[in-house]
Amino acid sequence: MTAAGYPLIAVAARGGTLTPALPAGLRCENDSHPAGRKDKKAIMADVYPIRPVTDDEFPAYRAVAEHAFHIGPPAERDLPLIGRLFEADRSLAAFDPALPVSAGPVGTAGAFTFQMSVPGAVVPTAGVTAVAVLPTYRRRGILRSLMRRQLADIAARGEPIAALWASETPLYGRFGYGRATTHASFVLRRGEGALAPWVPADPGLRLRIASPAVVIAELGKVYDTVLATQPGFCSRNDAWWDRLLKDPPEDRNGFSPLRCLLAEDECGPRGYALYAGQGRWDENTFLPDSRLVVRELTAADPAAAAALWRDLLSRDLVAEVIARLRPADDPVLYQLLDPRRARPQVADGLWVRIVDLPHALAARRYCCPVDVVLEVTDELLPGNAGRWRLRAAGLSGSAGSGAPAGAVSCERTSDPADVALGIRELGAAYLGGTRLGMLAAAGLVTELRAGTLAPLSAAMSWDPAPWCPKIF
Ligand SMILES: CC(C)(COP(=O)(O)OP(=O)(O)OC[C@H]1O[C@@H](n2cnc3c(N)ncnc32)[C@H](O)[C@@H]1OP(=O)(O)O)[C@@H](O)C(=O)NCCC(=O)NCCS
Repeated sequence: MTAAGYPLIAVAARGGTLTPALPAGLRCENDSHPAGRKDKKAIMADVYPIRPVTDDEFPAYRAVAEHAFHIGPPAERDLPLIGRLFEADRSLAAFDPALPVSAGPVGTAGAFTFQMSVPGAVVPTAGVTAVAVLPTYRRRGILRSLMRRQLADIAARGEPIAALWASETPLYGRFGYGRATTHASFVLRRGEGALAPWVPADPGLRLRIASPAVVIAELGKVYDTVLATQPGFCSRNDAWWDRLLKDPPEDRNGFSPLRCLLAEDECGPRGYALYAGQGRWDENTFLPDSRLVVRELTAADPAAAAALWRDLLSRDLVAEVIARLRPADDPVLYQLLDPRRARPQVADGLWVRIVDLPHALAARRYCCPVDVVLEVTDELLPGNAGRWRLRAAGLSGSAGSGAPAGAVSCERTSDPADVALGIRELGAAYLGGTRLGMLAAAGLVTELRAGTLAPLSAAMSWDPAPWCPKIF
């Protein structure tokens, strides 16, 4: 338990009464005090009891998402893998008390137990997933109720942060999730993928085509190397690798089997690309018109990344290379001779929710020294609200204070605040990719004492920028 005190967080998030006295200005009008709630939908939602489902109830649980996402049931062959990934004890399902339990849930939310890379550390993270409400039960506050209960459960497990991919961007800000990463899709046409001559090339590297399943250990080695320093990467166990490499012929849509290109030297693997091709010809012109889709490309160093891209972007007969879920500031955009030709399409990626503020802020590292008092608002988890003094020594220690490199503390204080911000903005900045200075320019963060925001914004920023290569 931390200074935030997860019981306080959990009680509030479950919609219970907060007995500990909070300063009046920090009390939550909407959620923490049922008597004081203004949100009628939140009150209505409480009539839909929420509980985890059992393994037997999984088909009914999944059916909610099938209706909500307009998809069919999974293929029989996929069920074992889905079962390995499903964490029944972390599932939440809302039921209509007017119906028999056999009618199944009307709303769902789940979570995966991840370890996620954050600036300078790897922290336990709830990977929120399977959020869905039956179309016939929408806009009655069921999502709100599920989110509140889920945050309480995450706090009780001691996970300092939660992260998710949003189906639609307006959904999660109201629950304190902030937009923490961006990703980009690239489309490069034939002849547009030349790398600049000054890009590093390592003659010691060799490229090898392999079947992904055969080189899974090599893939894991590269991935784990990158994960150690790449905020936004989530730990992968065997089931997650199986999900990434899943490639049933029925799902290929005319593409080849998934293939792997490994970049390695005498010491082992340094990078990989997972890709599939679609051999095509223009029937009128008889010109080659093949496509190549990169499912994932991960490299531990710039020369390995360049070697992989150089090969894929120059494949014979390929009219178009498509790479999705790339970092928006992908280094390849500085390796390409003509980066505009990558036609980047940028969208939001991971949304981060700080669940246990002092734990989360003390768990990551800060790139330069900072000593600042934050005034934080958090309607759903009032245990996070109030003033916190964040002291961090930076990566090379704090000159004068004697604090060792990387030292961080985050404690409650009654000192005057320097910077005021919401938990959503703190979550957006947490992985180091969304600058607090930019959020201040948007009017979402307020500098209360001149000269305190810029050092905080700089200290929270991080290289490399966060990137999550897989939707969960
Ligand atoms: C999105 C979804 C879960 C919302 O569930 P719901 O029970 O209708 O949501 P609630 O009634 O609790 O609404 C909570 C708030 O979100 C808002 N909201 C809900 N769906 C929204 C949407 N699609 N776009 C914008 N706002 C939305 C509500 O207006 C409400 O706003 P308020 O806080 O101002 O009162 C549900 O519509 C759904 O299953 N959609 C399809 C699947 C999906 O997109 N799931 C999310 C996966 S990340």
